[in-house]
Amino acid sequence: MRKVGFIGWRGMVGSVLMDRMRAENDFQGYEPVFFTTSQVGQDGPDVGCGVKPLEDAMNIDKLAEMDIILSCQGGSYTKTVYEELRARWDGYWIDAASALRMSDDAIIVLDPVNRSVIDRGLASGIKNYIGGNCTVSLMMMGIGGLFEHDLVEWISSMTYQAASGAGAKNMRELISQMGEIEGEVSDLLADPASAILDIDQKITAKLNDGTLTTDVWGVPLAASLIPWIDSPMENGQTREEWKGIAETNKILGRTGNDIIPIDGQCVRVGAMRCHSQGLTIKLKKDVPLAEIEHIIASHNEWVKVVPNDRAITSRELTPVKTSGTLTVPVGRLRKMNIGPEYLTCFTVGDQLLWGAAEPVRRVLNIIRD
Ligand code: HSE
Repeated sequence: MRKVGFIGWRGMVGSVLMDRMRAENDFQGYEPVFFTTSQVGQDGPDVGCGVKPLEDAMNIDKLAEMDIILSCQGGSYTKTVYEELRARWDGYWIDAASALRMSDDAIIVLDPVNRSVIDRGLASGIKNYIGGNCTVSLMMMGIGGLFEHDLVEWISSMTYQAASGAGAKNMRELISQMGEIEGEVSDLLADPASAILDIDQKITAKLNDGTLTTDVWGVPLAASLIPWIDSPMENGQTREEWKGIAETNKILGRTGNDIIPIDGQCVRVGAMRCHSQGLTIKLKKDVPLAEIEHIIASHNEWVKVVPNDRAITSRELTPVKTSGTLTVPVGRLRKMNIGPEYLTCFTVGDQLLWGAAEPVRRVLNIIRD
């Protein structure tokens, strides 16, 4: 029986992955082996095939016994073990981290969008299958139909990214900040006669006086935003913004003159685990809006076109509605007054599901079948 090694299964993305695998009854037809970086020998999880001791994730010999390895442990773990392991191991490496994403011998996986690229990779002997950047994957799940019909000339994306993309500690600190802010003015809030500008003044002072907890974010995120995600690139972009063009085209298998230009601004906001994005899309031709809606809605079973209506949009096209689900709503769809080939839309997706765990869960099933 083939052996599949799991690393980083207890972290935030790993836990979401385990929940999804249990829900889909995925732990079948192979022997799961659970690794750890800190609790070697302790009991592993019970996934229906008995509890076994955890193996050492730094033990290259043990890793090399696996037919497939799936890591949610993060990029620094990948950088630590991958080269040494690969020098003597021919198995499949599946990874949620970005470390190997842009390597020539790696495929970025998002099978509802690029199943043919994955299948070609498997047929040609590629052994590394890496989950994409969350914002890129969620954008492609939303407007995959436009790519499939080759309608996209270029895209500008403005993102509203949740705290979860920065990590579990960041989510916790966001909530602490919200609580501290409310605590600063709770007496004034309780008094209906209090003046809103007095409340605002106290909040602004609290956000600026250095007493708000900012150990993780470095600055207030609650009641504010951070228009910078990841490290700087030389051209003024952030790395998160650069991934838009680099990863989207790699996922689609587009190179050279076929590359679709994509750029925008990536912004952190105080949402918990759903990334949202407002897109401006230059189409290759003027396609009627009803046809565009049909193309988007029929691309995959998770995308959902939300009517451009105030009440429905406020209810359906939000992180609150989308959180914890695989649904990728796309709404605010309309032609822009710039011209009939310019389309705008807004889309939301769960950063931990389609943005992280789901593509790697699905590619494990594809590889092991
Ligand atoms: N880089 C993303 C973010 C998460 O910071 O939101 C990982 O894809």
